[in-house]
Amino acid sequence: MSLSLRFGRTTAALAASILSGEAVLAQESPVILLPAPTTAGGAPLTRALAERRSVRTFQDAPLTLAEVGQLLWAAQGVTQTGPAPAGWRSEWGAWSGGGRTAPSAGALYPLETYLLATSVDGLEPGLYHYVPGAHALEPTGACSSRKLARAALGQTAITEAPAVVVFTGVYARAASKYEDRAPRYVHIEVGAAAENLLLQATALGLGGVFTGAFRDSAVTDVLGLPKDHAPLGIVPVGRPGG
Ligand SMILES: Cc1cc2nc3c(=O)[nH]c(=O)nc-3n(C[C@H](O)[C@H](O)[C@H](O)COP(=O)(O)O)c2cc1C
Repeated sequence: MSLSLRFGRTTAALAASILSGEAVLAQESPVILLPAPTTAGGAPLTRALAERRSVRTFQDAPLTLAEVGQLLWAAQGVTQTGPAPAGWRSEWGAWSGGGRTAPSAGALYPLETYLLATSVDGLEPGLYHYVPGAHALEPTGACSSRKLARAALGQTAITEAPAVVVFTGVYARAASKYEDRAPRYVHIEVGAAAENLLLQATALGLGGVFTGAFRDSAVTDVLGLPKDHAPLGIVPVGRPGG
C-alpha cells in the first residue's frame, strides 16, 4: 500500500511539501513531513571526522525537527531519483529508483530506520518510522525510552538523549539476491548509515553513540517492531553534556 493511499494525502501534495521544505504537523494525516535537508555547506567533513567521539551524556535540551530530519537524511536520505545511473547493469536487477546517502549492496536498501523522540520540538513524544522517499515520519505509537534502555542493558544514554535512532534490517530483502551473504551486507550497511549519522551529528554540534549491546527480542517487543525488522543498532543523540 502506498504512503499516499495509506494516509490519504496525494503523492503530488507530499512532493510539493517536500520541495518547499514545509514541515507539516498534519491535522488530516499522521504523516509528518520533515524540513528539507541541507545538502550543501555545513562543517567540513574533515573536521567532523577529527572531532567525532562517542557521546553518552546529554544536556536536558530538545532537538529541533530540522536537526532530527538532517540526522535521518544523513543516515538514509534519498539523494538520487530518476533513471538508473550510467553503468547500472541489467543483471543486477531493476534499478529501484533512488540512491541514498549510504551505499547499499545491489541498491536493495534493507534498512528500516526508527526515531524514538523524547524531546524534539514539534514532535509528540513517541516512536516514528522514517520514510526516506518522502523524507517523512510516520508515527507508530507510544514508546518508553526507559523500557528501551532496560532492553539495552540499562544504558543511560538512551534515557538521557532527547532522540534515539534505531536501525533495523530486513534480511530477506538482501537475501533475495545475495542469499547467505545477506547478513554480512546488511551489517556493513548499518555501519555506513550509523557513521553518516554520527558525522552529521558532530557537524551540527550534536553527539551520539552507536549502541550494539541490547537484547534483540526485548528491543523488538518494546518498540513493537514488525517481526522481519531485526534491530541492529541504537543511536541516542543530543546536545553533548558536561
Ligand atoms: C558495533 C559497535 C557496538 C558498540 N556498542 C556500544 C554500546 O553498546 N554501548 C556503548 O556505550 N558504546 C558502544 N559502542 C561505542 C564504542 O564503545 C566506541 O566507539 C569506542 O569506545 C571508541 O570511542 P569513540 O567512538 O569515541 O571513538 C559500540 C561501537 C560499535 C562500533
